[in-house]
Amino acid sequence: MPQLILTADPDFIDLALDEARRAASAVEVAARLAPGVLLLDCMEGFWGLAESWRIDPPIFVRHLNPVDVTIPLRGAEDDVFAIVDAAEAELAGMLEADLPFSVQTRILADMPYKPFDINRALSDRLQKVSGAPLNVRNPAQVVSVVCADSGRQTADATPNPHYAFLGLSFVDYNLSGWAGGERRFAREANQVSRAEFKLLEALAAFHIDLPPRGSALDLGAAPGGWTRVLRQREQFVTAVDPAALDPRLEKDRGIRHKRMTAEAYLADEPDEFDLIVNDMRMDARDSARLMVDYARQLYPHGIAIMTFKLPEQGRRAVLDHAFNILREGYIIAGARQLFHNRSEITVYLQKS
Ligand SMILES: C[S@@+](CC[C@H](N)C(=O)[O-])C[C@H]1O[C@@H](n2cnc3c(N)ncnc32)[C@H](O)[C@@H]1O
Repeated sequence: MPQLILTADPDFIDLALDEARRAASAVEVAARLAPGVLLLDCMEGFWGLAESWRIDPPIFVRHLNPVDVTIPLRGAEDDVFAIVDAAEAELAGMLEADLPFSVQTRILADMPYKPFDINRALSDRLQKVSGAPLNVRNPAQVVSVVCADSGRQTADATPNPHYAFLGLSFVDYNLSGWAGGERRFAREANQVSRAEFKLLEALAAFHIDLPPRGSALDLGAAPGGWTRVLRQREQFVTAVDPAALDPRLEKDRGIRHKRMTAEAYLADEPDEFDLIVNDMRMDARDSARLMVDYARQLYPHGIAIMTFKLPEQGRRAVLDHAFNILREGYIIAGARQLFHNRSEITVYLQKS
């Protein structure tokens, strides 16, 4: 049976597994490799599942990679050579010589080597034998390596055997260009809040280019992380929040702070905008209703990005209800549980 590795936030792994089961006919969990990382048996295989998700992407699955080769590990430094030799024997011939590749390693168990050690050794060897150019930042094809405890209990109670799972895929089929979907951003000295990463990740994940010198409305803006990101992208920002913005934003004349709720601002006959973002701490359905009311403040070409805070229980039902509300004013152009989202997802909207 073909195998693949599916990754999601540990808190959302069951919803991610449901998505896999909806997209493919026979999906079974072969092993739980780590919180949020599942080894799956899947009749359709990696390519079948990935192909169906290219048409209708999942929300909760963050990353998917194939398993073409599985080798046992000793937990010693020479595992690195065994992985390199196995990849050369089984995968090098499948690499497209004219497409850039990268190696993405995750080590999910206690091992005496780091992902970098495998990435470096394997990319050196694969470059030599396949001729494919290495491009870590922008690969077209990815060799994924996952080293993990198999999760299987052994009969004699010896420690669980460890394995390396290796697979080759086009990056577009992995759902993320980052190992396990862990999209990293460098922290900047002037960063206002960690929430900034959410907006950066959303802009990248949904391939959103903001219009030059556009006008943006930031609902639930305080302390101002998203506002700062929008200013960096040359947007004029109306920041709405009863709470204070970070003092570092106060002198910026491209920011207008409306110190009130989003409901009060709507009653205030606001302007029209190219972009509305909404990161308000609010029930997802209430937030969706408010966004529908705000749809008339969006220019016809306008877009919106919002987070949906999800409850502990009944998440799927809340989500479906909130989506139905949103469809009264928008086309849902994307929805993802991003790496920087906590108990929430990010939704990308276009005006309908
Ligand atoms: C998660 S924080 C937003 C963080 C912000 N995106 C950033 O990058 O710094 C949520 C904010 O929603 C605001 N909020 C909650 N209900 C609101 C409402 N009805 N109208 C406007 N803001 C609201 C809160 O005051 C809080 O500042």
